[in-house]
Parts: sequence; C-alpha cells; structure tokens
Amino acid sequence: VPGVAPEVVRVGLIGFGTVGSGVVRILRENRESIAQRLGFRLELARLADLDVERDRGVSLEGVALTREWREVALAPDVDVVLELVGGTHVAREIVLGALGAGKAVVTANKALLAEHGAELFAAARAQRTELAFEASVAGTIPVLRALREGLCGDRIEALCGIVNGTSNYVLSEMESAGEPYELCLKRAQALGYAEADPSFDVDGTDSAHKLALLLGLAFGAQLPVADIPRRGIEQVTPLDMEYARQLGLRIKLLAVGRVRPDGALEARVEPMLIPEASALAQVRGALNAVAVRGAFSGPTLYCGAGAGSLPTAAAVVSDVMDLARARVSGSCGRVPPLGWSRLSPMRLCDPAQLQGEFYLRFTARERPGALATVAGVLARCGISIAAVYQPERHGARSVPIVLVTHSTQESALRVAMAQTERLEELCARTQVLRIEREI
Ligand code: HSE
Repeated sequence: VPGVAPEVVRVGLIGFGTVGSGVVRILRENRESIAQRLGFRLELARLADLDVERDRGVSLEGVALTREWREVALAPDVDVVLELVGGTHVAREIVLGALGAGKAVVTANKALLAEHGAELFAAARAQRTELAFEASVAGTIPVLRALREGLCGDRIEALCGIVNGTSNYVLSEMESAGEPYELCLKRAQALGYAEADPSFDVDGTDSAHKLALLLGLAFGAQLPVADIPRRGIEQVTPLDMEYARQLGLRIKLLAVGRVRPDGALEARVEPMLIPEASALAQVRGALNAVAVRGAFSGPTLYCGAGAGSLPTAAAVVSDVMDLARARVSGSCGRVPPLGWSRLSPMRLCDPAQLQGEFYLRFTARERPGALATVAGVLARCGISIAAVYQPERHGARSVPIVLVTHSTQESALRVAMAQTERLEELCARTQVLRIEREI
C-alpha cells in the first residue's frame, strides 16, 4: 500500500559474479544502516546464477538459490530484481521479463542500456515501474544522479570523462611502473575491473556505451551508440607516454560530449593528450572521473572508483534503496530514467570539420632530409607546427620524430597523414593523438 511502509522489501539477485557478490556483502554488512535510512528492511530473498555452488566468501543463509533466472525475475515474493549477469541477450530477456512482471529492476549493464535502453525504459513506463542503472557508468560515482537531478536546472554544454577503469588502470601502470601493456591488462582482469571480454575495455566500446548514456542524461540526446566514433588504447606505446611527459601532457582514454555553437553534437571516445596539471590527469588506476560544464553552474567534477566489486555494488545498492522507496511511497516514475520527458535525435558534427591540436609521432629512417620531408607535407597541407622533438638514437636504423601541431582542421590533418603514408622516409605507422586542453 503506497504511503504505508512495509516491514521488508524483497530483493532478487540474478548474476553472482564480481558485482553480485559485492551486493550480497553490502546488503549483509550494512543491513542496519540501510534499514535505519529506509524505515524498512531490505531482504535478499532469491539468487540465481549458473554456478550457485562456488564459495564467494559471503553468507547466503536464508536465500533461495536457483540456476533458473525466471525463478527470481518472476517470483511473487520478489519486489526488486537485480540484473547483474552482463551481456545483452539473456540480460535483455531478464530485464523485460522482470519489468513485465511488474518488478522494479536495477542493472549495472551499460551495453544493454546503450543498445536496448529505449525498449527497456518504455517497458518500465508501460508497467508503471522503474529501471535504475547508476552503477552502469563510472562505478560508484553518483554522476548519473548528478546529471539527472542535481544539475537538471542547468543547460549542460560539455562533458569529458574517464569512464573505463580498466584502460585507465592499464595506462597508469604502463606510465608509472613502465610495465608492459599485456601484463597490466591481465592484472586489471584479476582485480575484477575488466569486462568478460576485455577487448571492450581497451578498444573504447565500453566507454562508448557509457558515453551514449551520459549524452542522454546531459543533453537529452538520442544517439545510436554505433554512431559514436571510438578508438581504443591498444596502439598507445610507452614511447608516447614518455614524449607526452616531456611535453607536459598525459595520455588518457576520454569520452567527450560537447554541443557546438551550431547545435550539432561532438561525441567521441579516443586516447587523448591532456595537460599534466589538469584535474583529469590526476585520475589514476581504476578511478573514473567526469568533468561537466554547465552554462550556469560552470565546471563540476565527479571522481571515484569506476570499477571493482564493492564500489560498483555500492551504487547498485543505492539504486535498490531508491526503487524500494519509490515503491513504498508510490512515486515510481517521478523522474524519467534519463531525466528528460522526451529525448531528441541530435545531429553529430562531422569530426573532419573540427579544429584541434595534434601530437604526431613519425618513425623515420635515419637519413638526411626525413624531418624536412615530413614538415614539408604538413606545410603544403596548411598545418602549422608548434613544437618538434627528435630524440637522438645512436646507431638505430629508425628514429622517432615527434611533432605537435597548432590548432588545425582535422580534414587537413587526414590529407597530410594520407600523404605521409606514402613517404619512403617513414618506416612504420604514424601515431596520431589529439591534444585536448578544453576539459
Ligand atoms: N570494465 C569496466 C571498467 C567496469 O573497467 O570500467 C565498470 O563498468
């Protein structure tokens, strides 16, 4: 009965992995505080996983265990269902099934929401229930709440985030300990940061899923995630990190969303060089951060653990509490899932028309004129060089030439890069990284 607090709201958990086991632990260890805040208890009533035997180091006393998700998602004694299995196929069935049965649903699944969000949000609305997803972007950081409610009176102009803990961990470890890429990635997997398929972390896909959600929240933008240009960190080398350091810059995998003066949306995920002294450059390891610029509020920054069992689980539990409260008070749907009564399709600007500074690392054969030839191509394309760095390589057959451009149009840079590809003075792929100072 809305308005009359029950003694208990029952939770059903589907997916007993890294985040699921963290949720069980928090529901147990923080039981008293949660009950005191809510005025009623949260009880983990049912749990489904394909493996309910393996010990995850948490007590499951009093919890009904099953391998069949329907026995949780559709159970009459469950009020709030947690989808923590990941992936998009079964997860979609679970969420639709649970919403169809009138359950409130919490998920941490950004891929699912980026691809099927419109369908799932509509299903929740049709059932007069809710789908919450704070943990899906930037782990424990309540940045979705901030964009949905805290900043809703403002007009957001731009956001820029480090939203993948795995790639940030890999870049930080490579930079500070000089460790090889593969080793750092393996460690991120062992620490429970990485996706089941870690290529999503390092190739920019996971960040693009999260950016699609952030664009919806910040700008009310409806944008197919496939339209977001993305590039990962696989080609970033320790050499680039070292040269970045010498230039007073640091390499980060960034997700950027910005409304251009003509109303078009700039959205991209790629490794970029940012000033060493900037706030985002201090975000190390599996930490995430999102910097937001509002027309009226100015800049705000949200930072914290972006991955890992307990930090992510803490965000899931806060969603469970939110939905339990909404059920009890009869206020389901008070705020739309992305914070906008209606989303609008937004035009993506053509990246080729954007201006920017670039870091270019050419690999040249050690012979006279290589630097002059490369510089000549840039000059003919109208690209002005701001800095040149060519370290001495005694005896080596090839030599890196690092050039930093002044602000230039990306289309001009593309033409120049196509022309340098054909130069016989160069003997390897050229590294091109955008320099982002406006963060
Ligand atoms: N694999 C993700 C990351 C987990 O590394 O950020 C949190 O979404």
